[in-house]
Amino acid sequence: MSASTDDERRAFHEQNRRSWNAVTPAHQSHKHDQAGFLRRGGSTLFPEELELLGPLEGQRLLHLQCNCGQDSLSLVAQGARVTGVDISDAAIAEARALSAESGLSAELVRADVLDWLDEAAAAGERFDRVFSSYGTIGWLADLPRWARGVASVLAPGGRLVLLEFHPLVWSFDAQGKVVEPYFIEGPLHEGGVNDYVARSGDDLTPMGRAEGVEGFVNPEPAVAFQHTVAQTVQAIADAGLFVETLREYPYANGCRVFDGMERLPDRRYGMPSGVPAMPLMLGIVATPR
Ligand SMILES: C[S@@+](CC[C@H](N)C(=O)[O-])C[C@H]1O[C@@H](n2cnc3c(N)ncnc32)[C@H](O)[C@@H]1O
Repeated sequence: MSASTDDERRAFHEQNRRSWNAVTPAHQSHKHDQAGFLRRGGSTLFPEELELLGPLEGQRLLHLQCNCGQDSLSLVAQGARVTGVDISDAAIAEARALSAESGLSAELVRADVLDWLDEAAAAGERFDRVFSSYGTIGWLADLPRWARGVASVLAPGGRLVLLEFHPLVWSFDAQGKVVEPYFIEGPLHEGGVNDYVARSGDDLTPMGRAEGVEGFVNPEPAVAFQHTVAQTVQAIADAGLFVETLREYPYANGCRVFDGMERLPDRRYGMPSGVPAMPLMLGIVATPR
């Protein structure tokens, strides 16, 4: 699960920074008029995260691994005071441009979340909500450190909201055959982050879809990490947080994990017809004790 040294962790994360920098222009090329969408009151958020986050008006919200800021700025539109952090230079540049064009204001910072959390805690920054969703913790080499960092910036009465794809889904190939162990220690050396936005039809582009870049191949490899449900919950508990909500969802938001999945309302996907349900997303709410 974890990188063995801090130097190793940094090297893995820097590799991922390069991979995300390379893929970001391709992802963005498929999203039509994002600023107009946000200005007209559009939102890229799903009901599941909004339910777990609760009321947001006036809340200080830290959005970890905020990518190009669409969700961060949708959260601003819900009344939150948002700080977004992401390691990718390209993603943060896009997020800042979208903030300026949409008129939705957020603090958007380029940093490795593990370093940033330590610095923010030392500087006395505190948040009412720490939010991370859809394809985030699997890029982190040290989840216990992440959880401790989250705990150190949560204000009294605050909450961590993590909404992720269920780690079990990565054990299957697209045809539903088990091809990887669920329990994997250590880094997974993958190809580069792919252009999943191009492959997702209109699932990830509620703002409207543009044709964009075709046939993108990422020259920069990435490094991922499998964090099981138990490892994730344990890291959060060991950081001194109380897990008050733990959810498993029989559908995936915006992501066709398997071939032939059934499209449900609101850009969700359920298991293919006739295939037994299994957990496809994991939701956690944890609070300071
Ligand atoms: C799948 S995207 C997350 C999407 C996000 N839920 C959103 O609001 O659009 C994963 C993001 O994690 C970022 N990332 C990966 N490793 C990171 C790290 N160590 N620190 C900060 N950001 C990281 C990547 O740059 C990428 O933008």
